[in-house]
Amino acid sequence: MRRRNFLKNASLTGVGLAVGNSLKGCQDISPDGKKVVVSDKKTALPLVIATWHVIDATARAMEILQAGGTALDAVEQGCMVEEANEKGQSVGKGGLPDRDGNVTLDACIMDKHGNCGSVVYLKNITHAVSVARKVMEDTPHVMLAGEGAKNFALKKGFQPESLLTEASKEAWEKWKVEAQYNPIINIENHDTIGMLAIDKNGDISGACTTSGLAYKMAGRVGDSPIIGSGLFVDNEIGAAVATGLGEEVVKTVGSFLVVELMRQGKTPQEACEEAIKRIVQKPNSDFNNFQVGYIAVNKHGDTGSYSIHQWFSMTKYQGSVNQQIQSDYFKKA
Ligand code: GLY
Repeated sequence: MRRRNFLKNASLTGVGLAVGNSLKGCQDISPDGKKVVVSDKKTALPLVIATWHVIDATARAMEILQAGGTALDAVEQGCMVEEANEKGQSVGKGGLPDRDGNVTLDACIMDKHGNCGSVVYLKNITHAVSVARKVMEDTPHVMLAGEGAKNFALKKGFQPESLLTEASKEAWEKWKVEAQYNPIINIENHDTIGMLAIDKNGDISGACTTSGLAYKMAGRVGDSPIIGSGLFVDNEIGAAVATGLGEEVVKTVGSFLVVELMRQGKTPQEACEEAIKRIVQKPNSDFNNFQVGYIAVNKHGDTGSYSIHQWFSMTKYQGSVNQQIQSDYFKKA
């Protein structure tokens, strides 16, 4: 079910806001004297969360986690589901192109050791997240871009293909009629898919993948392949991933900020809210015209999500429940 239809039915299915969605747990005192919530790990782990309504992707990730697989395998495989989904016009195959008609992908991945890999401006390869993983595991580098990233992928056996589907081409051709360059992420459509998982061993990994801003300038790169902006994982503390207008996330190094706020004692929910405040409370912030959303998880399996505008959501699979949870948001009427 796509997001719009889901929302129509949300009241019938009893879907609630993400506020206060942390697990039932007991209070404990951390060494620095701050109160933290300690969850019952038997029910908490494994778990996977993702930006937007992507229950097939979280289901695939959970399949791996339940079988004893690593969080790293889970987030890669989960993101691959959306990359292959041609109906999703913001990720992988079927992603909307830049203003010149090129579909260019950005992705990154980060493991429990703090290793990371990233690809930028990748063309003609559907599974950008897997190329990012190869960069992490098979090169001494963190980031490969453009032709270099594509040639690396081809050498690793990835198959080249056209990523521009008929539907995306048609949308681009319609856009060209007026071709107003207005780089606003549609707040009601899904954008970057970011996924965070904790496996049965309690280890955390994360990944994100996107075709970026629709009809962007050729060569534009957003937050998604930038470690610390689009994604950050610290296996001692937790992880965060961003969606929305990448420029605003990059300017505040958003995902790193969320994780650091959790390190200072904030819950994932509080940390996501604070990171959004850093954007909207800037002098002259134009936040009415763009969306940014964060999701986060801490080491105990508590989760949070928050966005500037309504309609951002998180998919969370924990225990036997795989569900979309509407996020709380900053801009109330
Ligand atoms: N968050 C995706 C982008 O700005 O490219």
